[in-house]
Order: sequence, then C-alpha cells, then structure tokens
Amino acid sequence: MKAFASDNYSGVHPEIMEALHQANHEHMGSYGADEITARVVKKFKSLFGDDTEVFFVYNGTGANVLGLTASTQSFNAIICSELAHINVDESTAPEKFTGCKLIGLPTTNGKIYADQVENRIQRLGDQHHPQARVISISQSTEYSTVYTAEEVKSLSEIAKKYNFYLHMDGARISNAAVSLGQDFRTFTKDASVDVLSFGGTKNGMMFGEAVLFFNPSLAKQFAYIRKQGMQLHSKMRFITAQFDALLSNDLWKRSASHANRMAKKLEHALRQIPQIKITQAVDGNGVFAVIPKEITEALQQEFFFYVWNDQTNECRLMCSFDTTEKEVEQFAEKAKALCSAL
Ligand SMILES: Cc1ncc(COP(=O)(O)O)c(C=O)c1O
Repeated sequence: MKAFASDNYSGVHPEIMEALHQANHEHMGSYGADEITARVVKKFKSLFGDDTEVFFVYNGTGANVLGLTASTQSFNAIICSELAHINVDESTAPEKFTGCKLIGLPTTNGKIYADQVENRIQRLGDQHHPQARVISISQSTEYSTVYTAEEVKSLSEIAKKYNFYLHMDGARISNAAVSLGQDFRTFTKDASVDVLSFGGTKNGMMFGEAVLFFNPSLAKQFAYIRKQGMQLHSKMRFITAQFDALLSNDLWKRSASHANRMAKKLEHALRQIPQIKITQAVDGNGVFAVIPKEITEALQQEFFFYVWNDQTNECRLMCSFDTTEKEVEQFAEKAKALCSAL
C-alpha cells in the first residue's frame, strides 16, 4: 500500500525494531526500574537540562491528557486552537480526565497568537465562569506549520502574566526542530513551556511518548496521575528502548529531516499543477492542498490520503521517514495526468 494518509501509517524504523530486539533478553526491573529507562531519562535530561522531570506513556492522547491533568483543576479552562488534536481528535478524553472546558480559538494556519489568546481571557476570579489556566499549542501544528521560538515566547509571556501554564503537544516535535534548525530546548524549555508531550510514534517508533515537565512543581503528583490514567507501562523498557534508539546517532533528526524533505518535494511537484492549490506553508512533514473533487477518488485508490475539509476538498498529505522520492514522483505524475484529463 502506498499512502500519504498519515505518519501513523508507516511501520517501525529498523533501528528502533533492532533496539526492541536487543532489549528483549533476560529479566529487568519493571515499571521503569530498569537500566534502559535510566539511560533514556539521562538522555532527555542532557537535551533539556537536569531539572527536567521525565515520564513515559503509551500514546499521544495519554501524554496530552495527563500533562494537562497535572496542570489544572476541574474548574479550569484550557485555551487552544479550534483545530487542536486535544479539541477535535481525542474524543472527550481531555474533558473527561481534566474536567476542564476547552476553549478553541479560530485559526487559519493551525497556530494561535498571543494577542488572540489575551483577548479571549475573561472573568478571571469570577466564581461563575470557567477559570482559564492553560494555553495549549501543537508543535508542529495540525496544519503542519511550525511556531517560531519567538511566537512560543510571546505565548508564554501571556501565560506568565495571568499565572497560566503553557502546554505543548509535541507529537511531531522532531519535524518542528528540523524545520526551525534549532535544538529542542530553544523553542520549548528556553521559551518557558511548562509541560511538553514529546512524540515518538510519528517519527518511527512503534508506540510511546514522553511527558516532560520543565516546571518541576507540576510533576510532583504525576506518577499517581499516570497510574490512575492507565498509562503506566509495566515492561517500560520496551518504550524506553525505542527512545534510546530514536535519541541515538541522530535518528530522530535523520527521520524527521527525510519526512520534511519529502513534503517539500511533494509541495514543489504539486505547485506545477494549475488545478491544485497548496493552502498552507509546508514547514513540517505535511502538505495541505485543494485537489479537484473529480479526481480525488481515483488518486486515493492508488495512494490513500484523507480529505481534511469536505466543503473545500482540502486534502492532507503526510510524509514519514519511509516515504520514498519515487512515491512522491508517482503521486504527482498521477495527479497531473488526472487533472489534465478534466
Ligand atoms: C497533533 C497530534 N497530537 C497528538 C497525537 C497523538 O495521538 P495518539 O493518541 O493517537 O497517539 C496526534 C496523532 O494523530 C496528533 O496529530
């Protein structure tokens, strides 16, 4: 199957599969009391600083929901973009587990901005009203655009001004780092993010994400929150062995650079087809394009992808570590042939 449907359609990177294989010997401590987990915690601390608190969970929804649970009380509100994964693709898990109201702000490019957030803050201290407490952003965004470190900083300034926390959904954080050409720390911890979901699955892992607290006070009860939230893996070494490989020999960077490069190549090829309109900046590993409705089904039969917006027929084309140049070329050729027959 050839697909641009999702970076979740891809398999497991061979170096990660090999790390899983290597971890599969003898008995080791469970629930994180093992040498592989200790090594990976050290790796995260060397990337983000010794005062970073590091926890591992199964999936992105779990990382987001539990990171937000640690940052809120159930009478709070969480401000995010209307397209945020927490707002539209995690069912009602964020509401159920945090008890909070989600406030989705309109966005045309997936990002939310400091002035927009500040304008939406209202009735703080009013017992009748949900009390905003967290700003949550996705990096890269659901539209595959990327916040600059300055944009993150301006959001964290608003968070500080109102005594809020800044949460970052980094399901695709490696794609963002490569796109910015910066190390992870510059646009997270150094930009005063409080809690980060650090994604692994979309960048070649089988499963597993990390929750990183740069604000250690938020981490104090997290071990209990994770267990209560059913995200504590007993054979933890099989999550952390994957991160061990991802964070070794620049695998995270090699994989994300490739995915981003394939997205750029796809964008470039599709821009040559007058009937197709690229709708978003291609910062990360996704291309958004309005494709004529009449050709969508025929194209999907050969290379599956999702229609993102039924009204406009804007489609989402995702690349991953294993997308090939040939697949990109074949997709563009097929699209061109179908368009010219219209
Ligand atoms: C922006 C974003 N955040 C988080 C996730 C993680 O979701 P999951 O719970 O499926 O791992 C995804 C996956 O699609 C995503 O696109």
